Amino acid sequence: MDKSKGLILVIFGASGDLTVRKLIPALCDLKNQQLLPKNFAVLGVGRTEMDDKAFQEKMLNGIREFLSQTPCAIANDSQEEFLSKLHYISINTSDSNDYARLKQRLSALDSQYNTSENYLFYLATPPNMYEVIINNLGSHELNKNTVPDSWKRIIIEKPFGYDLNSARDLNSKVLKVFSEDQVYRIDHYLGKETVQNILVTRFSNGIFEPLWNRNFIHHIEVTSAESIGVENRGGYYDTAGALRDMIQNHLLQIVALVAMEPPATSDARSIRNETLKVFQSLRPLTETDIEQNVIRGQYTASTIKGKQMAGYRDEANVGYCSKTETYVAMKFFIDNWRWSDVPFYIRTGKHLPIRVTEIVIHFKPSPHVLFTKETGVPMTSNQLVIRIQPDEGILLKFGMKVPGSGFKVQEVGMDFHYSQLSDKRLPDAYERLLLDCILGDATLFSRGDSVEATWSFIDPILKLWKEKPQTKLFGYPAGTWGPENADSLIDSPDHTWRYPCKNLTADSNYCEL
Ligand SMILES: NC(=O)c1ccc[n+]([C@@H]2O[C@H](COP(=O)([O-])OP(=O)(O)OC[C@H]3O[C@@H](n4cnc5c(N)ncnc54)[C@H](OP(=O)(O)O)[C@@H]3O)[C@@H](O)[C@H]2O)c1
Repeated sequence: MDKSKGLILVIFGASGDLTVRKLIPALCDLKNQQLLPKNFAVLGVGRTEMDDKAFQEKMLNGIREFLSQTPCAIANDSQEEFLSKLHYISINTSDSNDYARLKQRLSALDSQYNTSENYLFYLATPPNMYEVIINNLGSHELNKNTVPDSWKRIIIEKPFGYDLNSARDLNSKVLKVFSEDQVYRIDHYLGKETVQNILVTRFSNGIFEPLWNRNFIHHIEVTSAESIGVENRGGYYDTAGALRDMIQNHLLQIVALVAMEPPATSDARSIRNETLKVFQSLRPLTETDIEQNVIRGQYTASTIKGKQMAGYRDEANVGYCSKTETYVAMKFFIDNWRWSDVPFYIRTGKHLPIRVTEIVIHFKPSPHVLFTKETGVPMTSNQLVIRIQPDEGILLKFGMKVPGSGFKVQEVGMDFHYSQLSDKRLPDAYERLLLDCILGDATLFSRGDSVEATWSFIDPILKLWKEKPQTKLFGYPAGTWGPENADSLIDSPDHTWRYPCKNLTADSNYCEL
C-alpha cells in the first residue's frame, strides 16, 4: 500500500454497537500490523452528544473487550497515538444544515492529517437512515473528488433493502449520488478467510475442478447454524427473519462462490461478473416450488443443558403471535450447463444445537459397487466438507479397506485444519474488508446488480408468506436441528443432511470435522 496516501474514515452511527464492537477493534488490529496509512484519522458521527475524549474512552473500552488479541496488543505509545486519531462530531443526521458543520470539521481534519481529501464514509446506522445520509452528503458535494487523485468511497452495511423493490429503490438513490465504483456494499461473510478459501481451493488446484459439475456431483449442501437465539435483537429480527437475515446475502454468496465458473482473472470485475451469472441462473421458484421446497420454522421453548430457554414468541420485542421464521431450509436448482439437475440444499437457523457453517459437496457414488456384499451396508458416497466456522478446515471422506481378510470397507476422512497452516491468527472479517476498501479493492463487496438478482430470487418466497400467512410455520424446540420436515427435502433415500459436530463437548467450542 502507498502509505503516503492518507484518508479519513467517517463513521455514521459511531455511537452504536457495530462501531465499538467491530469497526474500531478491526482498525486497531490493522494499526498493529502497520497496515494503516500514516495519515489516517476517524471521524465518528452521531446524534449522541460526545466530545473526542469521551468517544476515545468508549472506543478504548471496546478495544479492550472485543479485540481478538486482548488487551489491545499495541504498545502503549502506539495505543495513545491510535486513540488520539479518533474524533467525533455530534450532528442531527437527518438535518441537511448540520452537514455544513460536518464538512467544515472534515476540512479541518484533512488539513491536520494531510489526507488529500480522501474520505471513506461508513453507514453504520439503521438502514432507514441510508437514503437521507447519502442525499445530504450529495447536497454538500461530499461525494465529489475535488482534489486531483483524491477519492470518496462509501460502505453500506447490510441489510441492503428489505425486498426486491426496496433494494432497487435504494440502489437507484445511491447511484444518483455516488458512482458504482465508489459504492462498497458489505457482506461480512465474504470477509472470512475460509469463505475466500473456497476460491483458492477450487481454482488453485487441478484435482477438484474436473469433478466440479453435474457429472460427478450428486448434490450440494450448505448449513449455517447458530446456537444462540435472537438475544437482544428481537425488535430488528422480528421484522427481518432468517430468509432476509441469512439466506438473501450470506448463504447465496457462498453458493455463488461454490457454483461460479472460473473467472478469467482474479480482479474484482471478473469475479463479480461470474457470481452475478450464478444468481441470474437460479431457477425462479414457483408457488408450488415454494410450498414443497422451502421449509420455515420457529423455535419454541425448551430446556438446553438444564437451562430453560424461551420460545421465540416470548423473546423481548417479538410479537406474541409472530410468524417470523427463525429457521429456513430450502432446495433449489441452478439452470446452467454445469449444474443442470444438481439440487442445492441450504439451511440456516437460530437455537440449533451448535454454531457451525459448512459446505458439503456430495459426490455421486461409484457406478458399479463392488464391495457392498462384504461390507453388509451400502457405501456412502464421497463427500468434501468445507468448514467455514468454527474449526475451519477441509475434510475429504472416502472408503478404505479394513485390514484383514475380505474387502470390508470403512469410511475414513482426510482432514486439514486451518490452524495447522500457520500460527498466524485468522483476521476478523471487518479487518480484511476495511483494508480492501481503503485499497480500493471491491472484490469481496456485493455489486448492485448482484444484490438485486438475489432479491429477485428470494422475493417470491417473501410474497407468498405475506399473501398466504397460513403457509406452514413449523415449531422446533430450541436446541434441536430444526423442523423434522426439513429432512424430507432431500429426496434421495441414501442421503440426509449432515449433522456436524456430533462430538462437540458441552464445555468446548472445538467442533471436529
Ligand atoms: N452490530 C452488528 O454486529 C452488526 C452486524 C452486521 C450488520 N450490522 C448493521 O450495521 C448497522 C449498524 O448496526 P448497530 O448494531 O451499530 O446499530 P445501532 O447500535 O442500532 O445504531 C447505530 C447508531 O445509529 C444511530 N441511530 C439509530 N437510530 C437512528 C435514527 N432513527 N436516526 C438517526 N440515527 C440513528 C444511533 O446513533 P445516534 O443516536 O448517536 O445518532 C446508533 O448509535 C445496521 O444497519 C446493522 O444492520 C450490524
